[in-house]
Amino acid sequence: MCGIIGYVGNNYAPEILTNSLKKLEYRGYDSTGVALLDTNAKLTIQKSSGTVNNLKKNLEKYDVDSKIGIGHTRWATHGEPNNINAHPHTDCTKKISIVHNGIIENHQEIRNSLEKLGHKFLSQTDSECISHLIENYLDNNDDIEKAIIKTANKIKGANVVLVISNKHPNKIFCFRIGSAGGLIIAHGNDEMLVSSDIPAIIPYASNITYLSSNEIAIISSKKVEYKNIDGISISKKTTTLELNEESISKGEFKHFMLKEIHDQPQSMTDAIGSRVSFIDNKIKFEKFPFTDDEIKQFSKIILIGMGTSLHACMVAKSWFESITKIPTEVDNSSEFRYRDLILNENHLIISISQSGETADTIAAMEKFRPLNPKQITLSNSPKAQTSQIADYTIDIRAGIEIGVASTKTFMCSLTTLYLLSLFMAEKRNSLTKAKMNAKLSELAKLPGIISNMLDNQKQYKIIANKYYNYSNFLYLGRGLNYPLAMEGALKLKEISYIHAEGYPAGEMKHGPIALIDQNMPVVILIPKDKMLDKMLINLNEVKARKGTIIAIATENENYINNLAKDIIFIPKTSDDLTPIIMSIPMQFISYYIALNKECNIDMPRNLAKSVTVE
Ligand code: F6R
Repeated sequence: MCGIIGYVGNNYAPEILTNSLKKLEYRGYDSTGVALLDTNAKLTIQKSSGTVNNLKKNLEKYDVDSKIGIGHTRWATHGEPNNINAHPHTDCTKKISIVHNGIIENHQEIRNSLEKLGHKFLSQTDSECISHLIENYLDNNDDIEKAIIKTANKIKGANVVLVISNKHPNKIFCFRIGSAGGLIIAHGNDEMLVSSDIPAIIPYASNITYLSSNEIAIISSKKVEYKNIDGISISKKTTTLELNEESISKGEFKHFMLKEIHDQPQSMTDAIGSRVSFIDNKIKFEKFPFTDDEIKQFSKIILIGMGTSLHACMVAKSWFESITKIPTEVDNSSEFRYRDLILNENHLIISISQSGETADTIAAMEKFRPLNPKQITLSNSPKAQTSQIADYTIDIRAGIEIGVASTKTFMCSLTTLYLLSLFMAEKRNSLTKAKMNAKLSELAKLPGIISNMLDNQKQYKIIANKYYNYSNFLYLGRGLNYPLAMEGALKLKEISYIHAEGYPAGEMKHGPIALIDQNMPVVILIPKDKMLDKMLINLNEVKARKGTIIAIATENENYINNLAKDIIFIPKTSDDLTPIIMSIPMQFISYYIALNKECNIDMPRNLAKSVTVE
């Protein structure tokens, strides 16, 4: 959460910082700000509540001749979103400025002791204690590096910080402790950027270095010095970035979310990619770390994730049980991390985090590491923190996703999990060759099926026009489609702010049925699969209570014809793969309803793409 940017070079810093902040807004967007050092080393801070556009307008009024600065886009944790709490923050002398991502767990204690020493705090944030701590630790020699090292060692929690000071007008100091999101240093020609994430640096530099936990970087326009948290110099590898501007542009689409929905046939093809040889129907995961014997020994799988990634886990549970024949459980990472579990080396934890930055998932993975379960993580950012913990990372290959509501990363997580279940099934001989062939040939058809589904958006627009004014929705599904009911409800809440609940259809009679009347649209996921008869019973129960039904049913079948007025048809595929294509109506229903309601679809209120705090 929160986006951080720093620039030092020969170009006009205000423009570079604000352009980059715009590209980090998906990480937090309640307020924003920059701190600039001008050619006379004078520090100027500009902040705005709301989006970067407001900040840009403010900055235009001041023509600060600056080639170095830091910026921040905020997702509030301590203190409401307003100008005062927006970053950057400064010390009492207004000579040091900082931007921060994370939570300082001992901030109250630090604040109390600094206030006793006479420091004056202006904001309600935990972040402000960083600038005052640095000020406090500055000795007579003004050794800012030493002061920063002391500060980094003093604050508790997971934190990423950038610092500038008018005493060092050509340098940006950074440090990272724990995993409060990443920090990437981009090396350009006589200019350097430092950012929370890749989109902000793509136009400027393609050689990058990731700062790890407990590391410090001192950045000037021509070089970067790396140290550990004790101030000892270290060397770090630089890698090349293989992304371009196109991958982070909306192109012809009105929203990133819509573009990303349309990316799905290609993303899914990439996720399958070279992992499957359709000639001999074999699946390969490059450098898979576990031997066939170890895979055969797995006695339990635990899938963990949050939000949409948790829903992917819930679908995959059925695949690992029915295809790989391994007892499988699913847990929300934030619950899992506090369980007292007995785990051993024959247990496999599979975590899913498209960002690789979700604090609860990271903590859950860390917590059980001493018990030696094997760990695989699925990520769309395979150099992120989750990969540092797992034995093996599988890149879901969705491509950059900017829309805060996950779409293509969900589909690619599902696709990758399906492949993993088949891959392990082959090693465990839990699937006949004929069944494996049939499953892979169905999978090969999916990108084409999804592509055709994208051509048929009229039906969603009709539903959206009819229902966008309703205040509550219920989504019902069974078996593999129960998690999709949860996902449909989550997508609707996130981007249209309509209250929605996803339930297993069998649970309906145990409470939710009390809510059903003509004011409650019920989205019933009723494809022609082995649960059809049961779902028909649920559908009739809703109908008998005058519930308003929107059915999602299989095309070219007549089982649904007279039972619902509003029907969205999806193509027929195998039962196993139906949840993957079911995600398309879940995405489009919420997208078009949010569009009708004129919501901020790519940056819904209160949300952020990477949830780096607990
Ligand atoms: C919903 C959504 C969130 C994320 C959740 C976990 O559209 O995007 O629910 O799925 O915050 O994020 P990751 O996958 O990055 O761990």
